[in-house]
Amino acid sequence: MDKTLLVTGGAGYIGSHTLLALIAAGYRPVVLDNFSNSVPEVLRRVEQLSGAQVEFVEGDIRDAGLLDRLFQQKAASGNPVQCVVHFAALKAVGESVANPLAYYDNNVGGTTTLLQAMDRAQVRHFVFSSSATVYGEPVALPYTEQHRIAPTNPYGWTKAMVEQVLRDWAATGEQRRAVALRYFNPIGAHASGRLGEAPQGIPNNLFPFITQVAVGKRERLMVFGDDYETADGTGVRDYLHVEDLADGHVRAVEYAGRTEAPFAAFNLGTGKGTSVLQLVRAFEQASGVAIACTVLARRPGDIASAWADPALAYRELGWKAERSIEQMCADGWRWQSQNPDGYSN
Ligand code: NAD
Ligand code: UFG
Repeated sequence: MDKTLLVTGGAGYIGSHTLLALIAAGYRPVVLDNFSNSVPEVLRRVEQLSGAQVEFVEGDIRDAGLLDRLFQQKAASGNPVQCVVHFAALKAVGESVANPLAYYDNNVGGTTTLLQAMDRAQVRHFVFSSSATVYGEPVALPYTEQHRIAPTNPYGWTKAMVEQVLRDWAATGEQRRAVALRYFNPIGAHASGRLGEAPQGIPNNLFPFITQVAVGKRERLMVFGDDYETADGTGVRDYLHVEDLADGHVRAVEYAGRTEAPFAAFNLGTGKGTSVLQLVRAFEQASGVAIACTVLARRPGDIASAWADPALAYRELGWKAERSIEQMCADGWRWQSQNPDGYSN
């Protein structure tokens, strides 16, 4: 019998790629998403690519009654939920500064509502989408999981708070297991060109901005600062392919099933830093399209450099990122050029 998982936010960018990885590994995901930042077409494409039917509930993680019904119904049908993979969250740093309560409500309140419903239904395993942003300004690089936790914005605080909630929840026993995955910078798209990142409005992040310039939706890339203490002066990040990140979730679900540790946090990154200009050059190579750039001042709140020490994830989860920057660019370009308007094509 396939293992049933609840995947919140499964219609989103990382969630949709993870659905494919979970199905390929023999899991049966049930998606809960309110479509606040995604569209149903994503799930149709996941079904096409996987050849599997994806069970789906439209709704909000803050709806306790809905969660109770969902868990009960799965248990009654003989397929109880074994683990929750929790992607659903708001994720725009700037918006979180302007509207912190929406972030604390959705990201922290939503998670406690979900955990309470899990307790009622005796579902004990939880995999959480955390972020490298919990570390804040680096004391030393690469970041290890022991680095201090010091986020610099409300979004980052929601991730740090949920990690603390999970530590305390898992410590209450009854074999509860919580795994926090601290993602670095996921980019790229599914190799088929059918799934990818489709931000609403002006992209906040570098990679989707570059791909939108390449496809002619934006005129030029604004490079936020070239006076950092990095090799070429532009910001350095640890970009990883979204399909590698998706595989990390399969490993985390498996780990939750075998570990004795109630709570664990893992960096998911490549361990390599790439600057803004290096990423632009790699993308130009992969796409054959020149990207017009203008250098502006630094973006407030940005740090110069961030990259992961991914050794713990390798040791404990058996996971490491396999795909190159070139592959991230080629796959991201295939997605953007074949779907210039995202899922509304
Ligand atoms: P996304 O916005 O594409 O996906 C999130 C999904 O959750 C969307 O489909 C949205 O509709 C859904 N959702 C949001 N609030 C909900 C609610 N209350 N109830 C039900 N569904 C809800 O984002 P993503 O890039 O796929 O990110 C997934 C997770 O990973 C998030 O928790 C995010 O904070 C985290 N993360 C993302 C990045 C990144 O660079 N993309 C980096 C670090 C961490
Ligand atoms: N950048 C530009 N121009 C842009 C956008 C970004 O030059 O239009 C630069 C930034 O200054 C930074 C680099 O590109 O040096 C990467 O910026 P992103 O916004 O793509 O990524 P960040 O590392 O700043 O933040 C992202 C997510 C956060 C998350 C963090 C760590 O937005 O939510 O990664 O996982 F917390």
